[in-house]
Amino acid sequence: MNDKENMKQQQLADYRVTDKGEALTTNQGLRVEDDEHSLKVGPRGPTLMEDFHFREKMTHFDHERIPERVVHARGFGAHGEFELYESLAEYTKAKFLTDTSKRTPLFVRFSTVAGSRGSSDTVRDVRGFAVKFYTEEGNYDLVGNNMPVFFIQDAVKFPDFIHAVKPEPPNEIPQASSAHDTFWDFVATNTESAHMIMWVMSGRALPRSFRMMEGFGVHTFRFINEQGKSHFVKFHWKPKLGVHSLVWDETQKVAGKDPDFNRRDLWHAIEQGNYPEFELGVQILKEDDEFNFDFDILDATKLWPEEIVPVRIVGKMTLNRNTDNFFAETEQVAFHVGHLVPGIDFTNDPLLQGRLFSYTDTQLLRLGGPNFPEIPINRPIAPVHNNQRDGMHRMTINQGQTSYHKNSLANNDPAQVPPSEGGYRHYEEKVEGRKIKARSTSFEDHFSQASMFWHSMSSIEQSQIVDAFRFELAKVTIKEIRQRVVDVFSQVAEDLAERIAEGIGVTPTKGVAATPTAISPALSMMTKAKTAAT
Ligand code: HEM
Repeated sequence: MNDKENMKQQQLADYRVTDKGEALTTNQGLRVEDDEHSLKVGPRGPTLMEDFHFREKMTHFDHERIPERVVHARGFGAHGEFELYESLAEYTKAKFLTDTSKRTPLFVRFSTVAGSRGSSDTVRDVRGFAVKFYTEEGNYDLVGNNMPVFFIQDAVKFPDFIHAVKPEPPNEIPQASSAHDTFWDFVATNTESAHMIMWVMSGRALPRSFRMMEGFGVHTFRFINEQGKSHFVKFHWKPKLGVHSLVWDETQKVAGKDPDFNRRDLWHAIEQGNYPEFELGVQILKEDDEFNFDFDILDATKLWPEEIVPVRIVGKMTLNRNTDNFFAETEQVAFHVGHLVPGIDFTNDPLLQGRLFSYTDTQLLRLGGPNFPEIPINRPIAPVHNNQRDGMHRMTINQGQTSYHKNSLANNDPAQVPPSEGGYRHYEEKVEGRKIKARSTSFEDHFSQASMFWHSMSSIEQSQIVDAFRFELAKVTIKEIRQRVVDVFSQVAEDLAERIAEGIGVTPTKGVAATPTAISPALSMMTKAKTAAT
């Protein structure tokens, strides 16, 4: 597809401004005579306040920075498109997932989570994998990570988790590593994080290239088809180049020599026409199978084993165009897990539910008020009509006397009210219960899948994981925290805990190690679930 056919690129073209060495003007369009000297009283005199060109230039510079993202501050974006291999009409009515003749424009942003905007690319961290599809039905954002599970089960713990991961308050040290007291204290006292920690201690946290990592929607979402029938779905991105990691020693050297290693790689690949490709996969479950597993399918610390619920490859994303302007596009893009199209809906995953609040809330601050959906990179290609008006930096001139619903004036036809058919309709899930602040007991197993992960590793991978634990924990200054972490991971696998302990001067506490009952749910989960997959 060339730029002419890509509706998002056409839309963006209207906003592009190229400096071709034209005469300098102020923001008011006034030609500037001299941009080298400020206006002074005599050649050595004080600068005059009335030098409006100086003031305007300096004021704009003074305001060039916006707050970095509170998480995922360091990122890199690219444009691309999505093509569908086979229609998913049986499961969803989303047009971009049913019409194989369509090419859907998209923008992707890869990121690290913990570091600041200027941190290094190759740190041990989760990578964000956010995709904005500009569909004809509106923007659909798949805001995922490069690991299939998450650290916590309920969004209310997210600020605590991030406070523990980010640099410590007194001195902002360490800047971009999971190697400090607060992070490991969090891990030891919030055992639901055990499974995700296994992924973070593995090579998955050290991708060699953004082009060589998987992406996961993590949460369980719903597909809704034309008949209103719902299926549960998990989303996957599989890189055509395969999954490749750096080893720890390499990451540290590279971080010093080229902190832009991953972004440089992506930029050059696209510039050279080696367009990165990722296939979209879906795992689909019938609604009736919701309770057929020994884990809760709404628990974001659990994955659906792919050998039980196979990943069906349904399409491909190709990244084929670099940005024109990092700030305008990559920095100002606003993803939101709540940007949906008809045919896709949420579930009651308590992590997902909390995310629905957080993204717009933070973007109101980060992007300065309620009109950030009008920023070019955020604009849908679908038409926008609503009664919103005013606010900081409003870019449209909404004509006419009405900005309310319902009104009979806008169409000059008192009988006509704008049609609502075809609009997004939330899935009519039946829910009932008391209002309680508690977590379902089905979320209580924190170790089975962590254990499954450990036992699925080759011996080299296991050694790398042990080395990672030892490296990180050796930086923890408080011995009791190191001890607690070892005791927590005893419940994942005794040999893992013993090997970690050996390198950090503690001994696993007797009696804490995994009992056969702590491991068996993983196995029974697999047998029980074999019957459940669609
Ligand atoms: C970014 C909140 C969990 C993936 C962000 C941002 C916030 C946030 C406030 C910054 C957004 C911005 O400034 O534009 C939360 C909360 C979570 C949560 C409250 C849990 C309760 C997750 C999970 C994933 C994820 C589970 C992956 C499935 C991302 C990504 C970005 C991001 C990829 C960066 C988006 C970009 O590139 O602009 N999150 N997050 N987050 N989050 Fe989350």
